[in-house]
Amino acid sequence: MNVLPPTRENLAIVAEELKKGNLAILPTETVYGLAADAKNEGSVSRIFQLKGRPANNPLIVHLSSFEQLPQFVAEVPDSVHLLHEAFMPGPLTLVLPKSPKVSSLVTGGLDTVAIRMPDHAACLGVMELGELALAMPSANPFMQLSPTNISMIDPDLADGVFACIDGGACTVGIESTVLDLTGAPTILRLGTVTKENIESVLQMQIGEGGRDQKSPGMYKRHYAPRTSCCISSNVSPAEAGLVFVEPSNSNQIQMPAEPRAYAQALYASLAEMDTKDVEIFFIQSPPKTPDWAAVWDRLTKATA
Ligand code: TXA
Ligand code: MG
Repeated sequence: MNVLPPTRENLAIVAEELKKGNLAILPTETVYGLAADAKNEGSVSRIFQLKGRPANNPLIVHLSSFEQLPQFVAEVPDSVHLLHEAFMPGPLTLVLPKSPKVSSLVTGGLDTVAIRMPDHAACLGVMELGELALAMPSANPFMQLSPTNISMIDPDLADGVFACIDGGACTVGIESTVLDLTGAPTILRLGTVTKENIESVLQMQIGEGGRDQKSPGMYKRHYAPRTSCCISSNVSPAEAGLVFVEPSNSNQIQMPAEPRAYAQALYASLAEMDTKDVEIFFIQSPPKTPDWAAVWDRLTKATA
């Protein structure tokens, strides 16, 4: 595993390798991503191979600047400018009508394309130095946990890339919110940019769901550790799991009581439970309030 610190020199080297058609693993503020030049079909198809991801599950195109937008998007609704000003760069992905120039390998055959500007200096630096847009799913084998630090990256995945840039622990910790803007605005994947955040910027009600038809990458079980786990209102002192209280045995991990901090810690904590010798663990249920919606979404999928 070739791990490089995010020096300007290393970012430039990685940008050159991406332009030659190689892949790289890059940090973003949400989770680590498996990056390819979005305009190189050979590299994009290697992403699907390496992850074991079905070809109909579309990839997000990452940009460093909105000036790149016309290269990928056929039509930019006014709402994009408001959302750009409020949330970008940041953990919000927009689904828009695709430009005919975008390869259907990237979009899984859909006539829409997902666009995001990651809020991470190393990732932005690679794109700026190489004048690149990156097709970049989370850097995990299909269905497994997304890595939020270098040590969580699957060695086989790392073997398939030129290098992994170490950007430290991801500050957001769960994947971006995906918002479909091709019709009435609808959230396809929950994230830390909430429905309420978006509604207050767009000054309108937005929908949630329609996931199955509109986003082939939404599965009932996803983001799951290898160990069986379930959500429980109470975790007894003898049981293993993620708890809000002081741990009462070495197989318990104390989680933050605030939803953003919880999200940031979630995948690393689930991965840590996989290193413990337990057959099953329990996740103490968080509050059922809107600010916990994205965490609930991931917990529901991890335990499905
Ligand atoms: O935070 C993130 O978004 C991370 C980092 C690396 O940027 N990326 C990420 O990519 O989570 P991935 O491939 O693991 O998830 C992308 C999601 C999938 O559920 C996919 O179905 C959906 O976005 N998606 C991509 N393009 C779409 C499109 N054109 N229409 C609907 N959904 C789309
Ligand atoms: Mg993913």
